[in-house]
Amino acid sequence: MVLKSARIAGLGYFVPKKKLTNEDLEKMVNTSDEWITSRTGIKERRMAGSDESTAELAAKAAKIALKDAKVEVDKIELIIVATLTPNHLMPSTATIVQHKLKAKNAVAFDIAAACTGFVYAITVAHQMLATGLYKNALVIGAETMTKFVDFTDRNTCILFGDGAGAVFLKSCKAGGGILGTYIKSNGNNFITIPAGGSAQPPSKETVRRNQHYITMDGKEVYKFAVRVVPDAVVQILKKCKLKADDIDKVIFHQANVRIIDAVCAKLKIDPAKSYINLHRYGNTSAASIPIALCEAVNEKVIKKGDIVLLVGFGAGMTWGSALIKM
Ligand code: UT7
Repeated sequence: MVLKSARIAGLGYFVPKKKLTNEDLEKMVNTSDEWITSRTGIKERRMAGSDESTAELAAKAAKIALKDAKVEVDKIELIIVATLTPNHLMPSTATIVQHKLKAKNAVAFDIAAACTGFVYAITVAHQMLATGLYKNALVIGAETMTKFVDFTDRNTCILFGDGAGAVFLKSCKAGGGILGTYIKSNGNNFITIPAGGSAQPPSKETVRRNQHYITMDGKEVYKFAVRVVPDAVVQILKKCKLKADDIDKVIFHQANVRIIDAVCAKLKIDPAKSYINLHRYGNTSAASIPIALCEAVNEKVIKKGDIVLLVGFGAGMTWGSALIKM
């Protein structure tokens, strides 16, 4: 079998209009703009309205990516949505997006890898295009994190925001587009939504205990990220036989600017190579990498031919990286 690759033919992102600033949060919990800014780099995030589901944001980002790629909806073969905030336990958010787009010839499914979801999703899409099984794929990272955040818990509510980012991948010759991907997980449980699934089905009691919201051991996640993100970078460079100097731009998962700075220092990556938008959107989980990638391309920070590194980490714990020639 002759293996192919997949290239990005179009990009799009969408974020809700409503902003939630650090000053807004000061009125809700015992926190301060100074604390949030110095500990995370976040200044504001976007908040989905009651009529804005994850699939709604995903479909809006997807339409922009499809327009950018100049592709008709009935040509879409594969739709993959990475999310930890699905519309429902069933059906998948991807099938709802398929319905919204009227993409009648596609097959659609979700990927659950939390904030690493987009890297997992392009890994799967890349493999399905490389084998020739499909010729194109719409890959979306979309989240409505603020609907799953406890706005009385200052440990988590200051971090997360909503949005969606999408790429349209087309198969191409091996050696172009996605140069390689690397994904890992270890089963550790530092971030979770305890109730609402089969382990703790929804009940009045689980709702009373706020167990349908995100809980997190922030310190452990921080230590984990500073350890595994450099590993993900080293592994993907080794796999693609490239050096850190060959990378033109890095899109880190936008969780905390201190994590990004620590990783750049550890790997001697020029921080100027890393595109950052977390001050405007907070941590949008699986959407953070495609939103940042799309913004960087729109702002011409990333140009055709650039070697771009994507790297993420999240609940599971999961982590992963991808190298792409744009
Ligand atoms: O996609 C993955 C998602 N998760 C992450 O990326 C989280 C990774 N972790 C982090 O980003 C950081 O650990 C946090 C930003 C969550 C916390 O920063 P930290 O420097 O690790 O702070 P800490 O948890 O050690 O807390 C320091 C102090 C504590 O007070 P005491 O015990 O020293 O008196 C906290 O109670 O800050 C307090 N604190 C706050 N103060 C004001 C915790 N949250 C807040 C807050 N505002 N929002």
